[in-house]
Amino acid sequence: VVIYVPRDAAALAMDADAVARDVERIADERGLSVQVVRNGSRGLLWLEPLVEIATPQGRIAYGPVQPEDVAALFDAGWLAGGAHALRLGLTEDIPYLKHQERLTFARVGVIDPLSLQDYAAHGGLQGLKRALAMEPGQIVDEMVASGLRGRGGAAFPTGIKWKTVAGTPGNTKYIVCNADEGDSGTFADRLLMEGDPYVLIEGMTIAGLAVGAAYGYIYVRSEYPHAIATLEAAIARARSVGWLGDDVHGSGRRFDLEVRKGAGAYICGEETSLLESLEGKRGVVRAKPPLPAISGLFGKPTVINNVISLATVPIILAKGAAYYRDYGVGRSHGTLPFQLAGNLKQGGLVEKAFGLSLRDLLYEFGGGSASGRPLRAVQVGGPLGAYLPESQWDVPLDYEAYIQISAMIGHGGLVAFDDSVDMARMARYAMEFCAIESCGKCTPCRIGSTRGMETIDKIAAGGQSREQVAQQVHLLRDLCDTMLGGSLCALGGMAPYPVLSALNHFPQDFGIESSHSA
Ligand code: NAI
Ligand code: SF4
Repeated sequence: VVIYVPRDAAALAMDADAVARDVERIADERGLSVQVVRNGSRGLLWLEPLVEIATPQGRIAYGPVQPEDVAALFDAGWLAGGAHALRLGLTEDIPYLKHQERLTFARVGVIDPLSLQDYAAHGGLQGLKRALAMEPGQIVDEMVASGLRGRGGAAFPTGIKWKTVAGTPGNTKYIVCNADEGDSGTFADRLLMEGDPYVLIEGMTIAGLAVGAAYGYIYVRSEYPHAIATLEAAIARARSVGWLGDDVHGSGRRFDLEVRKGAGAYICGEETSLLESLEGKRGVVRAKPPLPAISGLFGKPTVINNVISLATVPIILAKGAAYYRDYGVGRSHGTLPFQLAGNLKQGGLVEKAFGLSLRDLLYEFGGGSASGRPLRAVQVGGPLGAYLPESQWDVPLDYEAYIQISAMIGHGGLVAFDDSVDMARMARYAMEFCAIESCGKCTPCRIGSTRGMETIDKIAAGGQSREQVAQQVHLLRDLCDTMLGGSLCALGGMAPYPVLSALNHFPQDFGIESSHSA
């Protein structure tokens, strides 16, 4: 009997290694033949470690399984799918999973991440095989037609980016994968790298074929040691069977890549600082233009894409642009892996087509607050994203619809807060975060963030007249304006979003009735 015990960092944090050891030990003691497979995470994080048993009816899930539960699970006959308080039924039928549209994450949690056979048997390599039979320009056209937009957060069309690189002359070009997933509450990149590393390798190889690049780098944050180890093992295996190297899949084409570890700076997720860091320098933002697509790593034309963008390339090539484009709404095509975090009962990863609402995610998937208190605010799109009050939870998750309410979907992370949250403190935190993480290159961000923190402190301290508070709020808005318009990159340019949304939607937390009239 095959038993799946996840090896994903989230499961390991909940004692999955001890569970796997106990499963093997107890099976051995009882003379039962079991094979433990260490899969990635299904993304139902509140159920980790989620253990699955392969039965003739399908995979049956049990969770969250702790080491002390294992003997009782054997007693209950779990190898045949026996009843137990932790039994969740067929994995595929768990509503949280069943109601998803998993394209990019189709294999994550299903396969052994490092098994080349599993990868090929579950639809892997189909996109690359098709790409190898196409002209580079056709691959780029397919990507443009798919409507895929950068999943790192900025939502720039991936195909257009590739077209710029393909059209820039140069013998040496690079593919860089941005895996410096620094947004609070996000973990999609990590889950994918730990659960299906070959899909990222395949996507980067296709990108290389499309733009004429023979070498790639995956820049992973140092806080992701398991992702780094998994990627390194996957790259070595892929190379050993000719999936990477001088003769990719016997095509005579070259592509190889390596993993580079970041050092813990949020700003190194900004593409030009990332390139500086890859070149061995301090991670400071470069002025654009030139765009990295024209002059990127070591001054060469460079495709720099987020993990999810690159990992979505294989399915687009395998199924065709139209298949992918048909998911979603408006100009937001395809699916996005939303990441549910904060004060929610059921935190985890939900891959869905664009167009659903925040309310769907919070209640149908998230199950409401973990504390049992009413939810009050949700920050969408990382620490630089706006705080959305309940009146905005029915806006469809669509890039353009979010821009209209001065919010952004970004990398798809959402952090929920219940009614005990103090929004003035959250606004202060945004400024503090910006002050700590600022690269220091431009004044609005370097100085403005600290002044912003001080101004919010003055407002929150109380004891001032109405006029004095109004003056401070005016000053804060003015400062936000300067940061929005005058910062060189998104860190200083977006830190005002959480601040302004807190002021506009939760003025009472700042001790004012309405920040506009104050
Ligand atoms: P941007 O809008 O300046 O650029 C988007 C991308 O398109 C860049 O790669 C840029 O080089 C490229 N580009 C623009 N015009 C092009 C052209 N004509 N040809 C080829 N390429 C072109 O946005 P930026 O500063 O790269 O990213 C900001 C976003 O990053 C924010 O919206 C935020 O959501 C996100 N972010 C994500 C984080 C994460 O952990 N994933 C952390 C922090 C921010
Ligand atoms: Fe550096 Fe901040 Fe300016 Fe960005 S906005 S370049 S992080 S100082």
